[in-house]
Amino acid sequence: MQLLKEKILKEGKVLSDTVLKVDSFLNHQIDPLLMKEIGEEFANRYTDEVITKILTIESSGIAPATMLGLTIGAPVVFARKRKSLTLSGNLYSSNVHSFTKNESNEISVSKEFLSADDNVLIIDDFLANGEAVKGLLDIAEQAGANVVGVGIVIEKGFQQGGMLLREQGIRIESLANIKSLANGQVEFFD
Ligand code: G4P
Ligand code: NA
Ligand code: NA
Repeated sequence: MQLLKEKILKEGKVLSDTVLKVDSFLNHQIDPLLMKEIGEEFANRYTDEVITKILTIESSGIAPATMLGLTIGAPVVFARKRKSLTLSGNLYSSNVHSFTKNESNEISVSKEFLSADDNVLIIDDFLANGEAVKGLLDIAEQAGANVVGVGIVIEKGFQQGGMLLREQGIRIESLANIKSLANGQVEFFD
C-alpha cells in the first residue's frame, strides 16, 4: 500500500535493526484518514470472503480493525490483555508470549462475541514473531469459528511470524512488508 509506505518512510523512526517506531500515526497518535484508507485496503484484499466478525487485540489493532469494520459493516471484537471487572465467566483464553518484552500475557475474549457461526478476519498492527496472531487463531479455534485470513498493517518480513503462519496455510495480507531496518533505513519487499 503506497500511502502507508510513504508514511512509514516519512514519519517512522528506526530504533534498532529490529524495531520501527510509528507513534505518530499508529501506536500512540492515530491518523484517522490513513486508518480509513487502511480499512478500505483490507476490505479490497478480502473482497472474495464473507466476513461476519473482525478479531483483533488491544490496543493498536483496534483502530485499523474498526475502520475495516466500518467499511464492510462487520463488528469488531478485541481480545483483552488483562481481566477487567466486567470480563469474567465465559471466556476463551490463550497465552501470548512476547519475545520483545520477554513476558507472557493471557488474552481473553468473551464467548458472547465469537461463535462457530462466525467467519473471522484477524487484524493486527504489527507482525513480528506471530505470537499475537497465534493467540487470536487459538481463540477463534476454541470458538469453532472459521478464520478466512489475517490482515496486518506492518509486517516485519525479516522476522519469523509471517513465514511460520503461511507455512500452516494461513492467508496473510500485509499492507507494508519490511525487508530490513539495517543502518537506520527502512527497506520494503516489493
Ligand atoms: P508478535 O506478536 O508478532 O510475536 O510480536 P512481539 O511479541 O514481538 O510484539 C509485542 C508488541 O510489540 C506488540 O504490541 C507488537 O505489535 C509490537 N511490535 C512488535 N514489533 C514492533 C515494531 O517493530 N514496532 C512497533 N511499533 N511495535 C512492534 P503490543 O505490546 O501488543 O502493544 P499495543 O498493541 O498495545 O500497541
Ligand atoms: Na499489536
Ligand atoms: Na503494538
